[in-house]
Amino acid sequence: MTVMKRILSGMRPTGKLHLGHLFGVLENWKKLQDEYECFFMVADWHALMSEYEKPQGLQETIVDNVVDWLACGISPEKAHIFIQTHIKEHLELYMALSLITPLGWLERCPTYKEQLREVTNRDLSTYGFLGYPVLQAADILLYKAHSVPVGEDQLPHLELTREISRRFNSLYKKEVFPEPQALLTQSARILGTDGRKMSKSYDNYIALSDQPHEIAKKIQSMFTDPLRIKRADPGHPDTCNVHSYYAIFAPERKKEIDVSCRRSEIGCTDCKKELARIVVEYLAPLQAKRNEFSKNRGAITKILEKGKNEAHEVAASTIAEVKELLGLR
Ligand code: TRP
Ligand code: SF4
Repeated sequence: MTVMKRILSGMRPTGKLHLGHLFGVLENWKKLQDEYECFFMVADWHALMSEYEKPQGLQETIVDNVVDWLACGISPEKAHIFIQTHIKEHLELYMALSLITPLGWLERCPTYKEQLREVTNRDLSTYGFLGYPVLQAADILLYKAHSVPVGEDQLPHLELTREISRRFNSLYKKEVFPEPQALLTQSARILGTDGRKMSKSYDNYIALSDQPHEIAKKIQSMFTDPLRIKRADPGHPDTCNVHSYYAIFAPERKKEIDVSCRRSEIGCTDCKKELARIVVEYLAPLQAKRNEFSKNRGAITKILEKGKNEAHEVAASTIAEVKELLGLR
């Protein structure tokens, strides 16, 4: 038997999951769980680093996100699905890595500087937020993950993780941690309803749990070809976001829409109505599974308990090794 390489990845529970998560993260995780030993973690401490002023509803969001993972086909039989705060060892390793992480590395981190600049509705000038990448490094190194599936925005954190790993190994003269590689997820294929990146903060998302009428309403509000003002104007599907959704949800139908749009045989309202039906139908099996899991909180608790035990076994052994090197018992 060949030993599978190990992966760890995490998601912050900051709200409902949407189509961006489905195509950008979850479909990728689903494939990876067959090729790697996967640790998929709900990063609730990381969520609190920016949401600490409003922790209300955090438990509901965590469960709701896990329900989405399961409905998408992330399987507790294949992957270790767990909650970061259930494993205290994350904090122990976080502390140990904090000891050796130079302040400059964190202050210079591009994501940190950007967030401090751009996020104006929360106070992120905290000690905890500066340490965000150190906790992320602890998440990854605790399981000695070889690879980390991430989007491009997370690359600076992975680079820091590798630097911290090297520094730890060299200080304590032992190859405790591997240098984890980024498994770059191709950037999300789907844009938000306003044409920007799909994101909760832009309020331009279609949630995996959205009801048919909400989906229809959101799709009806989408921008289309700006040059097509009257119904009789020939359309330019290449510049239309609705058309790009067809490419994802109904590639066959997309070709016909392309022609009808250019010949102005189809109007945007009808084009969107049809797309809404297609998206609703696409999500129906996922939503059916969602409903089943949501009704069965007991099953979710069991799955998370199983994941916790599996994760804890690895975490405890890494921490024992680290403490030994630090002269702790
Ligand atoms: N910072 C990641 C994000 O915002 C979430 C995360 C926390 C993570 N710990 C991780 C991702 C470990 C990969 C590995 O998306
Ligand atoms: Fe876009 Fe469809 Fe309108 Fe053409 S008909 S511009 S593809 S919404």
